[in-house]
Amino acid sequence: MSATTRTVLVTGAARGIGAGIAEVLAARGFTIVIADVNEDQARETAARLGPEHEGISLDVADSAAVDQAIDALAERAGGLYGVVNNAGINRDAMLHKMTDAQWDQVLAVDLSAVFYVSRAAARHLREARRGRIVNISSASWEGNIGQANYAAAKAGVLGLTFTLSKELARYGVTANAICPGFIETDMTSALPENIYAAQLEKIPLGYAGKPQDVGAAVAYFLSEDASYITGQVLEVGGGYQI
Ligand code: NAI
Repeated sequence: MSATTRTVLVTGAARGIGAGIAEVLAARGFTIVIADVNEDQARETAARLGPEHEGISLDVADSAAVDQAIDALAERAGGLYGVVNNAGINRDAMLHKMTDAQWDQVLAVDLSAVFYVSRAAARHLREARRGRIVNISSASWEGNIGQANYAAAKAGVLGLTFTLSKELARYGVTANAICPGFIETDMTSALPENIYAAQLEKIPLGYAGKPQDVGAAVAYFLSEDASYITGQVLEVGGGYQI
């Protein structure tokens, strides 16, 4: 990898928090590759950021496709600066009603995919002896009613992040996680009104966060200022977890 590459892959960044992350990182001089199952929206979002940014079609839950996409990206970008594992889904249901499919889909996208993308990226970052991995977990990792699958996956992301930080530190690669609280996106606007209102009440700062608030935290972990910080979890939730 060239010592100067500023290319960062952000998964699931066609919209929502990922798009906010991409916007903040692009403004700070990173070259963004948006990898999303929604190819059209990925391209549109990347085009809005400027011509040097790119949107690609990728299902992060497909291990072979992830390997191929990341190798191809590192080849054409001259390496990778880092990856942001943001793609995520929820399939909420109470435990007694949760189907195997709901469990499997969420574990595949919210946990296994973080492993696939981190493993593929780490091969390039290790070689370069520097790089950054930022994983988007959730305040729900501590457990949340109706989210057995999601909470298990998001707690798993933290365990994975801690392990990545320990394994990759010797190569100059950092791995950190962010737990967003309640952020205004399509995922949260789909909630029933009473649940949305109940979530707002849990926020000491009194309002929902914006995707760019998460973007600013990601930008910090990618910055030179955070070079000596690894294996950390940052809550971005207006005090949600206090
Ligand atoms: P969103 O639903 O608005 O956007 C998710 C994006 O991921 C979409 O563009 C979707 O096409 C993409 N995606 C879904 N499955 C994919 C796959 N298999 N491969 C590639 N891309 C895929 O969601 P939102 O709200 O922006 O969430 C982003 C991340 O933040 C997720 O990991 C979510 O769990 C997490 N989060 C969100 C919170 C919120 O309040 N919105 C709170 C805490 C965490």
